[in-house]
Amino acid sequence: MDFTLTEEQLMIQQAARDFAQTELLPGVIERDDAQEFPEQQVKRMGELGFMGMMVDPKYGGSGLDTLSYVLTMEELSKVDASASVVVSVNNSLVCWGLETYGSEEQKMKYLTQLASGNCIGAFCLSEPEAGSDATSQKTTAIDKGDHYILNGTKNWITNGNSAEVYIVMAQTDVEKGHKGINALIIEKGMEGFEIGPKENKLGIRGSDTHSLLFNDVKVPKENRIGEDGFGFKFAMKTLAGGRIGIAAQALGIAAGAYELSKKYAKERKAFGKEIGKHQAIAFKLADMHTQIAAARHLVYKAAWDKDNNKNYDVTGAMAKLYASQVAMDTAIEAVQIHGGNGFVKEYHVERMMRDAKITQIYEGTTEIQKIVISRDLLKD
Ligand code: CAA
Repeated sequence: MDFTLTEEQLMIQQAARDFAQTELLPGVIERDDAQEFPEQQVKRMGELGFMGMMVDPKYGGSGLDTLSYVLTMEELSKVDASASVVVSVNNSLVCWGLETYGSEEQKMKYLTQLASGNCIGAFCLSEPEAGSDATSQKTTAIDKGDHYILNGTKNWITNGNSAEVYIVMAQTDVEKGHKGINALIIEKGMEGFEIGPKENKLGIRGSDTHSLLFNDVKVPKENRIGEDGFGFKFAMKTLAGGRIGIAAQALGIAAGAYELSKKYAKERKAFGKEIGKHQAIAFKLADMHTQIAAARHLVYKAAWDKDNNKNYDVTGAMAKLYASQVAMDTAIEAVQIHGGNGFVKEYHVERMMRDAKITQIYEGTTEIQKIVISRDLLKD
């Protein structure tokens, strides 16, 4: 399989790299510290076409392939995973789902705004008692003829406060189990929709994660995505692609931590020479480099599968499973290589170590990826 990047892909990669260095890097430590959402940077990413990368230009997107999106995610995540998760959720979980399954009216009304970066979206599946066990939705959307009445609570929602458009999964018919779930488009400001408290997180502290409360929210029927009862499949299909984006985020965190470590190993001296000349450090760098290369192959392969209309449920899960482990391992080793400096904020790697952890949790934990992969292996 040839993963030689095209001229266009190389240009996009360079544009994302330049943007990350010039506009994400300044202030990244402070934003993390203050839990400040990168509002200006997100606006700029909209202008650069990063918010609807795979969306058809007729709906305001950039019309690029998944590999270009993955390259962008990697470059942004090398510097600021709080900003890159906003890109990932908007592209994979909101725009892709709307473009693939939404009605023409929904696309014109919402996708055009989301893909062009005029506003951002959120994907709302998790609940206080339904995280990994996503079929156990307690939020209800009761059918009232031409509208639904939505009640319930969603948890750990990325872009929780900054979004304008929310795709909310809710149970319409309990008897039907997961086949009774619907995906509804909710707008900020709808009566009865309240943004709950912001989470004080270990990592990706610049992204805003909130609970959401729905109290008798009247949602017009035309805001349902797909047929009645399609909501769970919608969520699963959408998440399958989302996992490629998070795998790319994990890859970027690993690559960022590795690059800083390599630089540090060439500069810092101990026992009369650069620390990179001691095998203890050189071997760590060799391991990091090898594991990142392996992760990159899995991530690109999953993107290639998606671009070539192959099934990517399993390759996406494999990419996320492996890349998130590599992100965690690499970031921990990066802190070790930096020694005392690694433990303080100025050197970035302690933040990367904290940020890496979420890639093993959101859009399906490590264990969920293993369920997806092993079920496929063992099916008849
Ligand atoms: N594509 C299409 N349909 C799928 C599917 C897929 N990839 N995966 C499952 N389904 C379908 C199944 O075919 C089944 O439908 P049928 O009964 O018609 O065959 C239905 O969904 C239920 O599937 P399962 O019986 O396999 O359901 P399960 O209860 O065993 O759970 C699971 C499956 C894979 C564990 C799923 O619950 C899951 O993915 N859980 C993790 C959820 C998750 O990733 N949450 C992250 C929250 S979102 C987030 O983090 C966003 C953010 O803000 C960053």
